[in-house]
Amino acid sequence: MAITATVLQLRFNTLLQFIAYVVLFRSLLQLRTSEVQAAPVKITLNTLTNCTNGTTFSPTDGELPISCCPEPDVNLNVSVVDFVPKGNGRLRVRKALQCLSGEELTNYTEKLTKGYELLRNLPADDPRSLMQQRRIHCAYCTGSFTHDGLSSADNFTIDIHFNWLFLPWHRIFLYFHERILQTLLGDENFTLHFWNFDNGDDATNSTQGAGCFTPGHFVPEIYNDNSTSTFDPDRANRTLLPDIPVDLSIPGTVLLVNITVRSVEEAVPRNRAAMQYAMATGTVPRDYFGIPLKYGDVRPINTDAGSMEVQPHSSMHRWLGAAMVLANTSAGDPIFYTFHANFDRLWHSWMGIGNNSDLQPTDPDWLDAEFLFWDENKILTRVKVSDVLSIDDLGYSYEKVNDAFWISWPIANFSSLFLAFRCSCVCLVILCDASSSLGEGSDLPCPTITIWPMLPHSHRKVQSSSGSNIRNAINCRKRQAEAVLGRRLKSPT
Ligand code: C2O
Repeated sequence: MAITATVLQLRFNTLLQFIAYVVLFRSLLQLRTSEVQAAPVKITLNTLTNCTNGTTFSPTDGELPISCCPEPDVNLNVSVVDFVPKGNGRLRVRKALQCLSGEELTNYTEKLTKGYELLRNLPADDPRSLMQQRRIHCAYCTGSFTHDGLSSADNFTIDIHFNWLFLPWHRIFLYFHERILQTLLGDENFTLHFWNFDNGDDATNSTQGAGCFTPGHFVPEIYNDNSTSTFDPDRANRTLLPDIPVDLSIPGTVLLVNITVRSVEEAVPRNRAAMQYAMATGTVPRDYFGIPLKYGDVRPINTDAGSMEVQPHSSMHRWLGAAMVLANTSAGDPIFYTFHANFDRLWHSWMGIGNNSDLQPTDPDWLDAEFLFWDENKILTRVKVSDVLSIDDLGYSYEKVNDAFWISWPIANFSSLFLAFRCSCVCLVILCDASSSLGEGSDLPCPTITIWPMLPHSHRKVQSSSGSNIRNAINCRKRQAEAVLGRRLKSPT
């Protein structure tokens, strides 16, 4: 009895101690959070006038100093106006470039090349020129801007990459880019069509209704004619080779010189895996959007990015090579805007998949984050993230394309692979073998898996070529996909 009482007493003391620690820890935590008041990132006129030289990371030369502040060329002695979307109540359709043909293609080529000629020829102090747009992108992504009142020496610099500002910022950037082209061309119907690089499906799928369903994974010809203004000579040589698709799964760890040229056969399954991983595996807002970036946060780094920003986005920049690799030069190449239009489309399309719309941040520090941009009339305009969440309001929509290409592929989501194993005779043939040509597959040979779902459930034959255990074969596939994607996948459930 006495012993039990002592034990109880001891436990009671431990409990008291534990409570004391929790209270202490919580008050420390409160101290810490009250030091840094969370608030949205705000780019103000003050931010712009305090712009300093930034840095960018070059895979070949390391950290490079970068100068891309608006001043002295662009006059900052102006007032700021709040954004009003100019959709004009009409919806223009941004279309997939690979499906433009005939007269429509001829007219578009003419307009687009004329537009970039005009953009390239604007005077240096015009904030709408292609050079200044490149520099604006550069200033926003090289730590040239510092959170107002904080010091760049303490790394309180801003980057709109690698965090939840990435998608909305680029949407606004493109919106103004398109408006500027419309204004210079004197055609308010001009529309920035997109490079549908994520579709590598050769089979035109007519069951999906109206839209564009041919593969879009080659560099669009309209941007690859070296005699026109849409071309930039500073791209990797592989972009000029015929029949070479983009590689959407280049890990950040691969040296630029080691980027391999892959055939359609090699690239398609890799791209599909990267797309499915980027678009269909997130379970919390951070997965797709990247870390929250608020006032007073230090400059984010690449591992803070959301799934789509890493692969395919960074992979695309790296695959295009040269000027596209560096944050300070990339937006000087017209192709930047068409491939970013596809990322904007992918975000829009992601919102429509499953319950993804529940995963879009609702934090006021995201919604109220604000940026400054020069509009089509050179007016410095303040835009908030919440202003651009509906592309309808912005006056455009996207042509339907073959997203089913990557949505329906089971390789990245291994639980769906297991579901497939359990699926009943309705499925005709399930080809779990789809990953056998995942690039690095040749270094990592996995047993072939064949399922015969036509047989009655109890007799269904699940075989692996080497006769080895089916789970080993699947784990092997998982490692193979991980090697390709450069990251770990969820375990089969
Ligand atoms: Cu601001 Cu594709 O990057």
